[in-house]
Amino acid sequence: MYNFPRDFLWGAATSAYQVEGNNSFSDWWKYELAGKLKYHSGQACRHYDLYNQDFDLAKELNHNCHRLSIEWSRIEPEEGKFSSNELEHYKEVILALKKRGLEPIVTLHHFTNPIWFSELGAWALRHPDKYFLCYVAKVVEALGKDVRFWVTINEPMVYLYYSYLLGAWPPQEKSLVKTKIVMDNLLRAHIKAYRLIADIYKKNKLNRPMISIAQNMRAFVPHIPTLRNKLAAYLEVKSFNLEFIKKSIRAKALDFLGVNYYSRSLVELKGWGIKNFNMNVCDGEPSDLKKNSLGWDIYPEGLYSVLMALKRYKLPVFILENGICTDNDSLRWDFIREHLKQLNMAMESGVKVLGYVYWSLIDNYEWDKGFGPRFGLIGIDYNTYKRTIRESARKFAQVCLDCEL
Ligand code: FCB
Repeated sequence: MYNFPRDFLWGAATSAYQVEGNNSFSDWWKYELAGKLKYHSGQACRHYDLYNQDFDLAKELNHNCHRLSIEWSRIEPEEGKFSSNELEHYKEVILALKKRGLEPIVTLHHFTNPIWFSELGAWALRHPDKYFLCYVAKVVEALGKDVRFWVTINEPMVYLYYSYLLGAWPPQEKSLVKTKIVMDNLLRAHIKAYRLIADIYKKNKLNRPMISIAQNMRAFVPHIPTLRNKLAAYLEVKSFNLEFIKKSIRAKALDFLGVNYYSRSLVELKGWGIKNFNMNVCDGEPSDLKKNSLGWDIYPEGLYSVLMALKRYKLPVFILENGICTDNDSLRWDFIREHLKQLNMAMESGVKVLGYVYWSLIDNYEWDKGFGPRFGLIGIDYNTYKRTIRESARKFAQVCLDCEL
């Protein structure tokens, strides 16, 4: 038997661009229409209109929290012009959650940018934080009174890799120099946003919120356990998993550790050059492990090791994403169950954990992979937009209710 605290937060996540539909002021939309991305998000899941229905289902599934993101390009479609209608919309969304007893966890930046910001140079600009902070201030002033958990930036390292190093996501850069610049800029933006949010709450005499990032953490496993590969895996953990967190803690800008965990990477260092260190994971490598529909290894024990590596920071952890895309729903339940076991073991070993948020509440637009991968607890029929609760969601719902597995 695996027991979880009675006040544990249980829920699922979405991000605005992946579910809302028609985010036509966003850089992703522009790249999609220009044919620079293979798929078009279009109406996505029509969640912008159907959020009440989706939150009813989350409540039916015994969730008591929900992670969502605000689409910057809706709030500020033109530089300096803020949309009161859209701010009002998100206020209603947050109230819709609270009415159903779902604690909102609100992300301010989840991969997408307004077109105007991307045309100025996005995160490689000299001072991108000055634009980001204006938007953050508007949102936090408008929503602050109803939000206890803020996530400034979703997966800074993933954004950095896909958008500036691998060239897959807008702005499709492949530049080591820009990658370094953007890393520093994202860190600065997070630290300043952290301080700004805290100040706004203070000024408005609200209780201090909990502010963090959502850090994608992977288990880095040496492919063949040579000394060279072990060293490379160690360095990956240090830079990909921990660097952003450590620097934020040093700046006193993390109240909890937001963790997104999916899979492992096998590490194989082909040479000592800097390029080899950036390209030292062989994720396509055949392995005996079961896989999700995108071919990622299913590796629950990695969650335990990632959490144990965080123990030394003495901050509470919040699992903000963990999930599987699959057409085999019983594999989804296996995935959730095995990861919850590892989570529970880490808690038994002294890691304080606030909650567990599954990715995702509903099937959605999986970025450059389109609508094929099915991550949802709830399935979407993209012809009718009908929602169907999956069996795995019912099993997870029982855990949420009983706080035991
Ligand atoms: C994470 C992203 C999320 C989703 C999942 C599958 O890296 O934060 O938006 O795409 O992966």
